[in-house]
Amino acid sequence: MWSIAEQLIAVSDCVVDADLVRAGCLLHDIGVYRLYDRDGELDQQNYVRHGVLGHEILLKEGFPEELCRFCSCHTGVGLTKQDVERQRLPLPLADYLAISAEEQLVMYADKFHSKTTPPKFVTADSYATYVSRFGDDKVAAFHSLRNTFGAPDLTELAAGHQHALA
Ligand SMILES: [Fe+2]
Repeated sequence: MWSIAEQLIAVSDCVVDADLVRAGCLLHDIGVYRLYDRDGELDQQNYVRHGVLGHEILLKEGFPEELCRFCSCHTGVGLTKQDVERQRLPLPLADYLAISAEEQLVMYADKFHSKTTPPKFVTADSYATYVSRFGDDKVAAFHSLRNTFGAPDLTELAAGHQHALA
């Protein structure tokens, strides 16, 4: 994911702390480890919790809030209190929104890979279609991120990893 963020930093005229973005790329999904049971099964029902779990892990380890927030604020294109309520998400009622440019870039760069089996890279157009099921406001949020950071060229990455591009 850092490769995607790195590319976006290079081609867009966004101003971010690249080292901070790289740290966010490496740490944002750390909470997923908490969702595996002893047999290595992933708790899919609570997958949406991996952000807050990651935030908790880093906070406990003494990491600054700035890094913890990469975990809790990277889901979708940002979760609002209303999303938590309406979708009955298993999360404490709060806003989980990427605020700083670094948080926004980590959240955005995360949208271009499926994390499915088999894994595939996801184009900006495909993600826009996917996210439309969560409402027009989510599509608008994604377009705004796309305007800020641009759309990554995933062709080389997909070929290099031998993952499909859809
Ligand atoms: Fe994630």
